[in-house]
Amino acid sequence: AAIVTYDWNITYVTANPDGLKERRVVGVNGQFPIPAINVTLNDTLVINVINQLDEPTSLHSHGLFQTGNGQFDGPSMVTQCPIPAGAKFTYTIPIEQHGTYWIHGHYKGHYVDGLRGPLIIHNINETYAYDEEYTLALADWYHTEHPIMLEQYLSIFNPSGAEPVPESGLINHMTNAKFNFVPGKTYRLRLINMSALAMFHFHIDGHEMEIIEIDGIDVERTKVTSFPITAAQRYSVLVTAKNDTSYNYILHADMDPAMFDVVPDDLQLNVTGTIVYSESAPTAPEETSQWLDFNDGDLVPVIPEETSEPAQIIALTASFNVLSDYSNKATFNDITYVQPKVPSLYTALTTGNYSSNPEVYGKYTHPLVLKHNDWIEIIINNNDAGNHPFHLHGHVFQIVGRGEGVHDPSKPYEGYINTTNPARRDTVLVPTEQNVAIRFRANNPGVWLFHCHIEWHLQAGLAVTFIEAPDLIPSVIKVDQSHYDNCKALDIPFSGN
Ligand code: C2O
Repeated sequence: AAIVTYDWNITYVTANPDGLKERRVVGVNGQFPIPAINVTLNDTLVINVINQLDEPTSLHSHGLFQTGNGQFDGPSMVTQCPIPAGAKFTYTIPIEQHGTYWIHGHYKGHYVDGLRGPLIIHNINETYAYDEEYTLALADWYHTEHPIMLEQYLSIFNPSGAEPVPESGLINHMTNAKFNFVPGKTYRLRLINMSALAMFHFHIDGHEMEIIEIDGIDVERTKVTSFPITAAQRYSVLVTAKNDTSYNYILHADMDPAMFDVVPDDLQLNVTGTIVYSESAPTAPEETSQWLDFNDGDLVPVIPEETSEPAQIIALTASFNVLSDYSNKATFNDITYVQPKVPSLYTALTTGNYSSNPEVYGKYTHPLVLKHNDWIEIIINNNDAGNHPFHLHGHVFQIVGRGEGVHDPSKPYEGYINTTNPARRDTVLVPTEQNVAIRFRANNPGVWLFHCHIEWHLQAGLAVTFIEAPDLIPSVIKVDQSHYDNCKALDIPFSGN
């Protein structure tokens, strides 16, 4: 185990990743795209941040449990005051998992503006053998800076709640990413969807794939010709190279038009890259995409996890409402998430016996208090016309049920149920007018955000806060002077526990 240190000066950079428009983006150390982080299980990852933007920022390591370390989870005003402009802050993260993750800004829409990169955690002994690996970061791309689009999106001039549609889709923030294949070798491709909105369907001409990992969980080898990947999800696939170099092959990441209210004529939905066997070889004739009906709930984790009847069942119904001021807001059970005045974790740290009382967190953070080690079931009802990828911080959850429509929790569950080694992941798609039941054990005292990972929907308030084992939080989680300093510089009333 090593201490792996990255020094990240977060800065504005000028970039033109789709070749269509030069714009200001958020980069690191003057670079965009930002460099990947590579660590190994049991390492400690240290990221020394200097915020050289003109506004606050924060970093979230997406998918990491952060056991007893929730003060470094990153979402602004949930687990920390953001890092003020000009300030320094260090994230110290013990690495307890392996697999494919990502790190992204969690202050306003910073990740949509570029603050997003791979976080690859190598296993000490990988579950499956392969010769080489490549990371493929899929992402939608906008020509306008996020705050400008956000204001318009949330305004009374957008009563239908139409999300801004990206101008491009990119692989590794490029328009024709190339991946060299050597005959006979086996490649692990790690796919990460870093989009604000887009969902992709991935396939490779002339090659079959075997899924071996979803969201950091190794799964039994599953052959596929194509699979969908929503914002924030990750998949690893094994691909065996051909035995000859007579052709190169196109790989396809098709953006699903169902995610967009309108598909502009000039939006290229089929994003491509190339598998290169030989610089001089011709490209094999392009295949037409066949999107497979694919259920991630069918993937079987290599290491089974028991499930249990839940001690607490929480039904959350997602919808969008036009408020009395005509603005368009997202709700879970009719509550729009609004950031608290003090980060929710700090409230848990400083309210003593009251920390188990949801009222101290403020109604509009939609706090849900969980008891230590209880099994929790959440039934996520999607009562909206769009599809939503929901993400839970601090955990992976089991996908135990899928059904049609809004589930009435007073009635028995009507959907398909799987409680035998169910698939586990940290981001699940709930299609329109369907519901998904997930379970996890509340074994990680801390404050964890649960939200739609479409950045527009998070900003519209589609989030709740889990206050997990609040009585234990002060003994497990420690914050130091650097946390108070952030708050102080931003006039946020928090001065320590
Ligand atoms: Cu990628 Cu709040 O998460």
